[in-house]
Amino acid sequence: MGCRYFLGRLPLTVALFHILFLFDSSSALREGRTCILNRNCDAGLHCETCFADGNVRPRCTRIQPISPISKVNDLPFNHYAWLTTHNSFAKLGAKSATGSLILAPTNQQDSITSQLNNGVRGFMLDMYDFENGIWLCHSYGGQCFNYTAFQPAINVLKEFQAFLEANPSEIVTVIIEDYVTSPKGLTNVFGAAGLRKFWFPVWRMPKNGGDWPMVSDMVRKNQRLLVFTSKASKEASEGIAYVWRYMVENQYGDGGMIAGLCPNRGESPAMNTTSRSLIIVNFFRSASNFPEACKDNSAPLLNMVNTCYNAAGNRWPNFIAVDFYKRSDGGGAAKAVDVTNGHSVCGCPSISSCKENMRFGGCELPKAIDAEASSSLAAETPSSSAESNGCSALFFGFIATLPALLVLLSLEEFHV
Ligand SMILES: *[C@@H]1O[C@H](CO)[C@@H](O)[C@H](O)[C@H]1NC(C)=O
Ligand SMILES: *[C@@H]1O[C@H](CO)[C@@H](O)[C@H](O)[C@H]1NC(C)=O
Repeated sequence: MGCRYFLGRLPLTVALFHILFLFDSSSALREGRTCILNRNCDAGLHCETCFADGNVRPRCTRIQPISPISKVNDLPFNHYAWLTTHNSFAKLGAKSATGSLILAPTNQQDSITSQLNNGVRGFMLDMYDFENGIWLCHSYGGQCFNYTAFQPAINVLKEFQAFLEANPSEIVTVIIEDYVTSPKGLTNVFGAAGLRKFWFPVWRMPKNGGDWPMVSDMVRKNQRLLVFTSKASKEASEGIAYVWRYMVENQYGDGGMIAGLCPNRGESPAMNTTSRSLIIVNFFRSASNFPEACKDNSAPLLNMVNTCYNAAGNRWPNFIAVDFYKRSDGGGAAKAVDVTNGHSVCGCPSISSCKENMRFGGCELPKAIDAEASSSLAAETPSSSAESNGCSALFFGFIATLPALLVLLSLEEFHV
């Protein structure tokens, strides 16, 4: 069985994939299975490789965490962890709304609405005065330029508005790196986006490390938008919570990615400061790095969550903030959030093992994965893993071109 054999079987292999994925819509694949297109995978997964850690086989990879409040909703808000995107607005391939090309780093792959639909609930946004308004911008020196300006903040705030309106039991947190100096600039833009009605008032935020209101209570009162600013003065002047009065966070960028260490960010109180009841774990590079993000968001992120748990005085984080949140070599940032929620909501290894409406009521541990599931489709094709490297390179090259092939093949089907 050599390459020649494999090549001889190409048409058969194509036909096999064709039948599996185009005619049988029930062939959704679980996490870890070899895939070709996103839609081959179960809900909440997408199909990708992680070359950075040598995983060249496209696999169904988790992008959505499990909603912890769908399991238990009567715990204080600070008992839950939320998937959080760093520079949520800095979308790969975006063009500036000024018409300029963007000459600034990008940090995410999809829109705010898509992030919300995938279960992202924490958003880190940089806001600047620009062009007679407030813009989302990725800049330096506190000044925004056409080539670093993404879009007016109101566009994105309206996406939050639509989501909160359509999802009456969801809670969203916005953390602003605030360069806005125009009087009531933030107040006006949140108001114009129709977000005042969801505002969680500063006076209800625990000032001395106490528990937050229960999630069910926040939902009942419709106080489902938490907004924090990096400008201390705005708490008094505009009623916008000063982030480090309520949260601690570790160092962002490369300084926060040293295994085994969880130093606090300069502006934040020490991680173990118990007069702050919310905790952010930042885990992204100083210079955003698309190829490496899948590796970063995998085992190293999970390790850092544990390291920061210890540094924070045995407290689990509430916001796990990453770049390119969809990327990982398996469970990724979504899994880190699920694991964290498992520990803090019900004392289980993952929120998936928590029983509904049971806090610390024993875990439903996952059933053993059947042997068939752990073998991959690739391994079932005639290309055996025992073949030479040259042949597997050929095979993976083939896999990589398959999506285009399948699109071509499927066109006929869509026309009939
Ligand atoms: C920046 O973009 C605006 C349009 O939003 C345009 O009017 C202006 O001329 C641009 N400035 C520069 C320096 O290109
Ligand atoms: C809190 O952490 C700091 C290091 O940031 C450490 O020096 C201090 O001893 C810790 N305090 C407590 C009470 O553990």
